Amino acid sequence: MTRVLVCAMSRLIFVALASLAAASVAFSQPVTVQERRLAEIERGRGLAEARCAACHAVTANGTSPNPESPAFEDIANRDGLTSATLRQYLRDAHNYPDAMQFRIERSQVRDLSAYIVTLKKSGYKPAI
Ligand code: HEC
Repeated sequence: MTRVLVCAMSRLIFVALASLAAASVAFSQPVTVQERRLAEIERGRGLAEARCAACHAVTANGTSPNPESPAFEDIANRDGLTSATLRQYLRDAHNYPDAMQFRIERSQVRDLSAYIVTLKKSGYKPAI
């Protein structure tokens, strides 16, 4: 065999082994998309309880402690609300009402939105 051929073959073998290794990493990854989503929702619910529940009702059928704060269920069921529009709103901290003087990290925005949209219900009627 010529040197060039040997060299080409070993490169081929290297590439094959490398892609095999990459594939096994991808397969052994324990976190599926659903698991990641569930983890986001779980964290979002925890955050909502810790950071938002002083004013907003953060779970279904709740009454907001601060009557000026819409229940998260009401927010979730507004026409046209999606997790994308909610993320956008929560990222634009400068548009917050005066009562909401805080900043939320990007990852927390994702978690909160993932949680809030789980409160969507078909045929939802706001309490008021
Ligand atoms: C100190 C009280 C307070 C806290 C804490 C608070 N909010 Fe609010 N939030 C309000 C009030 C009051 C409004 C309604 C303002 C209005 O309608 O002008 C509001 C409105 C909203 C809205 C809807 C805005 C709209 O389109 O009407 C969203 C979404 C929201 N809050 C998310 C959150 C999240 C997420 C948290 C926790 C990270 C949070 N809020 C914490 C007081 C609060």
